[in-house]
Amino acid sequence: MYCKGFYRASSPLPRGQLPEKEELTIGYRNWTNLFTISAIANIGFSEDLKFLDQGNDTVVSESMDGSLKKVYFRECLFATAWAQSNLIWSYDWYKTFVRISNIVFSTYRRCWRLNKDRDGIVYNRATTRLQRYRAGEKLGDFFTAMMQDKSGAPHDLEWGEIVAEISIMMNAGSDTTGLAINNALFQLLKIPHCLEKLRSELDAALDEDDIVAPYDKVKHLPYLRARPDESLRILPPVSFGLACRTRPEGTNILGDFIVGDTSVSMSAYVVHHDESIFTDHEAYRPERWLGDEGKALQPLFVAFSTGARGCIGWDSSYLEQTMLIASLVHRYEFALPFPGWEPERRENMTLSPGPMPLKIWRRTTTSESRALDTVQEEAFA
Ligand code: HEM
Repeated sequence: MYCKGFYRASSPLPRGQLPEKEELTIGYRNWTNLFTISAIANIGFSEDLKFLDQGNDTVVSESMDGSLKKVYFRECLFATAWAQSNLIWSYDWYKTFVRISNIVFSTYRRCWRLNKDRDGIVYNRATTRLQRYRAGEKLGDFFTAMMQDKSGAPHDLEWGEIVAEISIMMNAGSDTTGLAINNALFQLLKIPHCLEKLRSELDAALDEDDIVAPYDKVKHLPYLRARPDESLRILPPVSFGLACRTRPEGTNILGDFIVGDTSVSMSAYVVHHDESIFTDHEAYRPERWLGDEGKALQPLFVAFSTGARGCIGWDSSYLEQTMLIASLVHRYEFALPFPGWEPERRENMTLSPGPMPLKIWRRTTTSESRALDTVQEEAFA
């Protein structure tokens, strides 16, 4: 995929040197998010939002009266997530809190206005895609799957339900995977021997001129596959406890009786850092997911939750993570601002790091080294 950001590659960083401030030309956190929003728009409703070409996330928002305006996708999404994550926990009072916060606090007023713009983004995507569906375009996306079954018979879902599904797809499908891809490279850059191990695996599987790693060449690589699991274990994008309510008659959970209508939850972060399950839990060790040890750990990996409400997009997410990380690590070198650099993190609906500035440069491939050797040999002849 063409991506404006990667024309910002600079000259290689000499070993042992730190990048200059002006060489940190990539805001990796932003670019990964632009990528994942674009990917979900493509998979979900066959739309090219052009975020990677634009280098920003301006998009059209449509009001119910049909008026259009340009807004920033992430500003709308993040403001909504921040406001909701502060007020949602007392469920019965949520709507009242929204009304009061809108009257009393200007910060919340701004968030709820951006939330309306976010609704307008979703509505515009939905109506745009509906027009293409009605015009008879045959597209193999999630939208088509919501409209009809494989034989073409209509599902007759209510329009409001389809718009709501597009909304959850755009939120749940973009922010989480963006965080996963951001954290994955961060962990690899922190632990150079893991990066080298992954690079050797990729170099053996890919050709020098594979700019975008073909999925068929990388999908079975064991270390590449183990890596997202370890990164999602240490920093699960959905880290807080997703609440469920017990049945009115109460229920037994792990041997304790919990009375009816009680909110219960389990944080993926806490489970993934339980030393009795994941020994040396702070250490980034993708190898723990390989072989029999890895198989035994799988049921205790809850980054995507589990059961009836578990994530339906985990396979698309792995596809995006695998292809992007394989392509980048195979072709480029990266440097963080300095050794031990850590992003700021805040927890709203997701565990979200701040910007991740990077220096980036092309790896020297074997044929390029050969060409360089020839030039040097000729120069000394
Ligand atoms: C690393 C990436 C991802 C993580 C960590 C993640 C995590 C989760 C979690 C924890 C839930 C459960 C929510 C709950 O219990 O209320 C969930 C639900 C969901 N996810 Fe994901 N997700 C990811 C990627 C995606 C992608 C790429 C898509 C879209 C293609 C997606 C679509 C959804 C949807 C639609 C639901 C709601 C399922 C339902 O309630 O029926 N997710 N996700």
